[in-house]
Amino acid sequence: MRNEGATIGLVPTMGALHEGHLTLVREAKKACDHVVASIFVNPTQFGPNEDLDAYPRQLAEDSAMLEAEGVSLLWAPTVDAMYPQGFATSISVEGVSAHFCGASRPGHFDGVATVVCKLFNQVMPDKAFFGEKDYQQLAVIRTMARDLDLVRPHVDAIVGVPTVREADGLAMSSRNRYLSAENRERAATLPQAMQEAVARFEDGQNVTRTLAALEDELLGAGFERVDYADLADAMSLEPIETLGEKPARLLVAARIGGTRLIDNLAVAPT
Ligand code: PAJ
Repeated sequence: MRNEGATIGLVPTMGALHEGHLTLVREAKKACDHVVASIFVNPTQFGPNEDLDAYPRQLAEDSAMLEAEGVSLLWAPTVDAMYPQGFATSISVEGVSAHFCGASRPGHFDGVATVVCKLFNQVMPDKAFFGEKDYQQLAVIRTMARDLDLVRPHVDAIVGVPTVREADGLAMSSRNRYLSAENRERAATLPQAMQEAVARFEDGQNVTRTLAALEDELLGAGFERVDYADLADAMSLEPIETLGEKPARLLVAARIGGTRLIDNLAVAPT
C-alpha cells in the first residue's frame, strides 16, 4: 500500500467490536486511502486482579464486521509474537498518566503506551485513530507520539474521535456486556449524573461540592464504588479545584456489579 503512495490509517482495538470501534474505522476511511485495524487483547495493560481472562474474544465475528466496513487489513498478532521470550522494554509517559486511571490501575498506561508504540512501528500508519471515551489514554498516546517522534510528524497524526453512546447515554464499551439487565439500566445514571454536574460547573457552582454530589448520586443509584470523580485540566490532566479560563474535563470511573465503567465529558471554560 505504501509503495503505491497510498495513505494508511490505523485503528488499534482489543476486539469485541461495537459501534464505537466502527466509528473510528469510518473516520479513518474518510481520512486515509486504506484502513488497517488491529485486534490484540494486550496482557500488559491488565492488572493482576483484572479481567484479562474474561475479556471477550470473538475474532471471526470482529473480522467479518471489519471486512464489511471496508478495512484493508486486519492485524491480529499472538501474545508470543508481540512479547517474545526475553521481552524487556517498557514505555512510561509521565505527567498525563499520573492521576485517574493511572493511579487506580498501576502499570496500565505503561502497557498501553508500549503496545501502541509497537503497533505504530509495525504498521507505520500516516494517522492513528483513538476514542475520546478513553480520554486519558488519548492524552498518553498523543504525548508519547510527540515525545518519541512516532508516526509521521503531522500535528494531526493522532486523531481523537468523540464518544459513541447508547440511546440512554451510556458510553459504548466492550465491558458493558458484563452488566446484568438490572445493572445495565442503572448504569445510565453515570452519563446522566455527569451531564448534570457539567451543567453545574458551567453555571459557576462549587466544584468540590458538585463532585461530592455526583459521587453520592452514583452510590445511591447502585454503583458500589467510585474510583474517581474529578475535574482536570483538559490538556495536562492535572486535577483542578476551580474552573478557570482553560478547557476542563470531567473524568469518572465507577464500579457496578463488579464491572468498572469509565466516562468523561468536556467542561467549557468560564
Ligand atoms: P479498546 O477498548 O478495544 O478500544 C479501542 C479504541 O476504541 C480506543 O481508541 C477506544 O477509545 C475506542 N472506543 C471504545 N469505545 C468507544 C466509544 N464508545 N466511542 C468512541 N470510541 C471508543 O483502548 C483500547 O482498546 C486499548 O487500550 C488499545 C488502545 C487498543 C491498546 O491495547
